[in-house]
Amino acid sequence: MSSRILIIDFGSQFTQLIARRVREARVYSEIHPPTRSVSWIREWKPTGIILSGGPNSVYDDNAPLADPAIFDIAPTLGICYGMQLMAHVLGGDVIRTNRREYGRSQVHVLEPAGLFYGFGDEPVTAWMSHGDHIEQAPKGYVVTAESNGNPIAAFRHESRPIFAVQFHPEVAHTPRGREIISNFLFEICKAEPSWTPGAFIEEEVTRIRERVGKSRVICGLSGGVDSSVAAALVHRAIGEQLTCIFVDTGLLRLHEREQVERTFRAHLGIKLVTVDAEKQFLEKLAGVEDPEKKRKIIGHTFIDVFEEAAAHVGDDVDYLVQGTLYPDVIESFSPRGGPSVTIKTHHNVGGLKEEMKFKLIEPLRELFKDEVRNVGRELGLPEEIVARHPFPGPGLAIRVLSDVTKEKLDLLRAADSLYLESIREAGLYDEIWQAFAVLLPVRSVGVMGDERTYEYVLGLRAVTSTDGMTADWYHFPHEVLGRISSRIINQIKGINRVVYDVSSKPPATIEWE
Ligand code: XMP
Repeated sequence: MSSRILIIDFGSQFTQLIARRVREARVYSEIHPPTRSVSWIREWKPTGIILSGGPNSVYDDNAPLADPAIFDIAPTLGICYGMQLMAHVLGGDVIRTNRREYGRSQVHVLEPAGLFYGFGDEPVTAWMSHGDHIEQAPKGYVVTAESNGNPIAAFRHESRPIFAVQFHPEVAHTPRGREIISNFLFEICKAEPSWTPGAFIEEEVTRIRERVGKSRVICGLSGGVDSSVAAALVHRAIGEQLTCIFVDTGLLRLHEREQVERTFRAHLGIKLVTVDAEKQFLEKLAGVEDPEKKRKIIGHTFIDVFEEAAAHVGDDVDYLVQGTLYPDVIESFSPRGGPSVTIKTHHNVGGLKEEMKFKLIEPLRELFKDEVRNVGRELGLPEEIVARHPFPGPGLAIRVLSDVTKEKLDLLRAADSLYLESIREAGLYDEIWQAFAVLLPVRSVGVMGDERTYEYVLGLRAVTSTDGMTADWYHFPHEVLGRISSRIINQIKGINRVVYDVSSKPPATIEWE
């Protein structure tokens, strides 16, 4: 069996980063809550175990603990709270302080081996974020690094493969953190770096074939990365048994439908049914201003249209493909109490899940977004699809900030396309997580030649982010913004003013709605 790392989540905001760093080193990893039993962990057969950080003190009433029996299952690395927990259950001395060590810290490696294999005498920068600290390592443990604020920055057992660091090797602020994680994986766990897009595709193709047998399968394509990659992967597995359905809601970006048809039908040879439902959507949306209402109408209309199209595919269809990703299914640990298992429901078009009779195939449910992109590339999907910015299910309806009409949609489509084209030409598209235009329900006065104009204001949004949960506004070079603005105002009749959104998330959201 391939190597795999079990990450136990004690509630740190960085836990997903640990999983990603491990996978970037080509070792498969999964995140699980601390409620997993020792026997469950043993059966999972981890090559190594990582205990994440977390906001608790080991002395808190409801602090999540760990059974020391897990240290007998596989080599273990404790990070931050994970380290304090190790010290606590192994008989070390964790001191509760009101003083936090937070931010960059200089760490002196005392032993250039194990986790610190390849390190020298010079201090290394590491990101700390902890309140309590370890005053004394448990008996039988050796201190392997120290920092100014914290004499015990790392320790290891003198003979067993148990290691810990007080700082966060998974964050970018610890520049040599990747080496530390690699050392854990390859020096200590002797893991194989075999988690690659190619290997994933091969395994998944076999799994899908076995599960589906001779049944027919449908997949709703949205034009986005996730459903595209899911469809291409399932097609690789079962070819002609798959039919994709693409609903043209009339709320799509410029040329989106043609692009999907070109890629899937012409390029990949996938059976594709396109449904032209623009009229239906626009009729239902007429006069509706409230964004939640818009979302509901779009969701329900989508299900109706999709079900009808699915019925036409045949009555022997058993499975529906969905592009659910790993961040949507991780059972994250909630350190502040409340339900310990929170599964985020995907707010994708229509919530097809609950309402339809099909069995689900979710071939990407173990992957992070960047991995999905790599799998897509490996499957031969063009860069214009795999590197595409995310696009919300309800489409441009939530970017027209008032009632939706065909006229407004066309205006927004043209402006949005010009905006993205300018970003591409400036070579900035891949630096930005998501960029789009919004049509504001505001008109303002302008002057064109000798004429007074009274036209729409267009809002531009561009953000950087890693997962869409938090985001910062993108700092465009001013001359690029200036060029975009004059291009849009000169070329798009109906817009005479452009504004740029400089709000971060939180407190704003990415979409305006
Ligand atoms: P917000 O606006 O909540 O958006 O900051 C976070 C990310 O989610 C996208 N988004 C959606 N994606 N269906 C989707 O598939 C939706 O209904 C939806 N609403 C927002 C948004 O574009 C951003 O990437």
